[in-house]
Amino acid sequence: MTITDIQLLPMADHVRGKRSPVTCHFKCGNACLGPECNTSSNPAFREIASAALSRRALLGLGAAGAVGIALAAATPTGAAVAAPGGGASGAPGGLLFDAISPVPKIVDDFTVPAGYTWAPIIRWGDPLFSSVPALDFDNQTPEAQAGQFGYNCDYLDIIADRSGRTGVLVNNHEYVNPGIMFPPTSDTAELDRRAAIFKAAHGFSVVELRRSKLGRPWRYLVDGRRNRRITADTVFELTGPAAGTDLVKTAEDGEGRWVKGTLGNCAGGTTPWGTVLSGEENFDGYFAWAADTAGQKRYRATPSAKSTYTFERIDPRFDAHDAGFVNEPNRFGWIVEIDPEDPSSTPRKHTAMGRFKHEGANVIIAEDGRAVAYMGDDQTNDYLYKFVSKGTYDPKNTPVARRKNLGLLSEGDLYVAKFAGNSPAAEITGTGALPADGLFDGTGQWIPLTQDGESVIPGMTTQEVLVFTRLAADTVGATKMDRPEDVQPNPKTGKVYVALTNNSSRTLATIDEANPVTGNRNGHIIELTETAGQSGTAFGWSILLLCGNPAVDQNTYFAGFPKELVSPISCPDNVAFDSEGNLWISTDGAPSKIGFNDGLFKVPLEGPERGRVQQFLSVPREAETCGPVIHDKEGMVFVAVQHPGEEGTVGAPTSYFPDYVPSHRPDTGLVAAPRPSVVQVWRA
Ligand code: FEO
Ligand code: CA
Ligand code: CA
Repeated sequence: MTITDIQLLPMADHVRGKRSPVTCHFKCGNACLGPECNTSSNPAFREIASAALSRRALLGLGAAGAVGIALAAATPTGAAVAAPGGGASGAPGGLLFDAISPVPKIVDDFTVPAGYTWAPIIRWGDPLFSSVPALDFDNQTPEAQAGQFGYNCDYLDIIADRSGRTGVLVNNHEYVNPGIMFPPTSDTAELDRRAAIFKAAHGFSVVELRRSKLGRPWRYLVDGRRNRRITADTVFELTGPAAGTDLVKTAEDGEGRWVKGTLGNCAGGTTPWGTVLSGEENFDGYFAWAADTAGQKRYRATPSAKSTYTFERIDPRFDAHDAGFVNEPNRFGWIVEIDPEDPSSTPRKHTAMGRFKHEGANVIIAEDGRAVAYMGDDQTNDYLYKFVSKGTYDPKNTPVARRKNLGLLSEGDLYVAKFAGNSPAAEITGTGALPADGLFDGTGQWIPLTQDGESVIPGMTTQEVLVFTRLAADTVGATKMDRPEDVQPNPKTGKVYVALTNNSSRTLATIDEANPVTGNRNGHIIELTETAGQSGTAFGWSILLLCGNPAVDQNTYFAGFPKELVSPISCPDNVAFDSEGNLWISTDGAPSKIGFNDGLFKVPLEGPERGRVQQFLSVPREAETCGPVIHDKEGMVFVAVQHPGEEGTVGAPTSYFPDYVPSHRPDTGLVAAPRPSVVQVWRA
């Protein structure tokens, strides 16, 4: 992609998008442009219960910144300057740091607080095996990429073994950006070869780690016992009620049981039984779509001759015009589960957890022993979901218990959230001004889409509810949310935190107390309290944060904490917790909203500091902060830096992250690209 190409991208004028036009194009297919895919009038359940839905017609089964902000806060690269209300923060035993100043969006640096230092653990193209070469921009091959760390790292966990000196890094790779991976070409054979490289750059990396002692930086191990690459060609097993049904059968898999690859993997979570979950998010961009059915349109898929990523050049699975593969798209959009301890294990896709643009899934064990997973569907005006397992968790560390726990997400019930506010509608003005009772808050219900594993939606079978989950949720009065991203229960309290990243299309006519800001630029965080037990169907909720830059936006809210003492924050995306139960938020989209690079922020949830947002780190220009992991007891923080310098090209990079060495390419005189990387931060 050239600069001219970028200027021609649909989102180049940033009319409604939250990101750079390049991210909009590759990551989500310009999801903010064009008609909304949730056009449901979404009536209450009792209104539709008697309505006869034409199932076949419904599912199409006939076919087999406010950037003008002053940048006075500019810091020299890498330097940390005390931010508004800066000062040591952190509960006893927690991570102590002085908040950094927000970093202007032109700065190509990774910034940490005074007293901390950083280094990458692993970068795009680093080999996991000695049989694989290091990244060579001029001679990259699909075979090399399939053994190297993939592109655009997102969900991350760093799981230390008992000794603390060995461990494993688990990371997924959401999408690729052809324009900054390789120079432009129109050569057909080269384009085919690149499509194969791009397939291999997706999926997961599992990498063995070593270090000298606690609190010291990790290094990754080539040929480590647990090292593994999962790509767009690795075989997954489908589990749950939709497995083996007609909706997921293809010419290659007549049984509907085995799917090659995982795509668009965004956020995720590590389960209490040690596996890793990840959400298949923007799967629509991977297919050349044929028919224009309601089921497809609801996922924002429209007929097209080719896909964003061009896999169909070399693999007919991605061309839904091919009669054998019309159902291939139904095999993506799931929660996947991998076992990082066993590199020979078959990863799985869980149909019981529903199919939508899964941001991620995070599990907590309920009082009754069942596993409860919270999940966001990241599209404008889509929904918040919860899955409750049928079986119960066995905490024993035995092979029998492990087998049982590995089956928990294959069987259970799926619910969607309906919110109700407790303030008069007239007091929800769209400006973000608090209603008279002082809170955006209320109650809510988890409305079942299945019960005892079977559909409760009139006119839809169980497999239809699970494969076309958005259509099912439309019929029960689910609340249209401002793009639900990561949703995570706090292990200390069981309260659930929902990141709603933004929603430019929220209007005065569609605001509600849970989504109370018109044209919601900066997003918000909802704190949800399960009032009938973690696996129950009733909850209370209140808005914890209305994000933004309080210096220029009066309609921000930080749980009542003084606004002049917080760091500006916009577009919350991933959330995590430290050992004290403080919330950590990483952002994606702040540059185009408030003019600062994305970052990682800490927010205490209890006591007098509740709502005090403090910025811990900033990623380099054009990057998103992903997968935060907070090991506060040893003074360490880990993030995945996704799409650094994404608006540059191979010839004209805008970022040199993470090596900051402009290495000239001897053959072309061009300069090497920035490399998405996992970064560790530790106390110096
Ligand atoms: Fe991949 Fe919803 O962010
Ligand atoms: Ca209220
Ligand atoms: Ca995300």
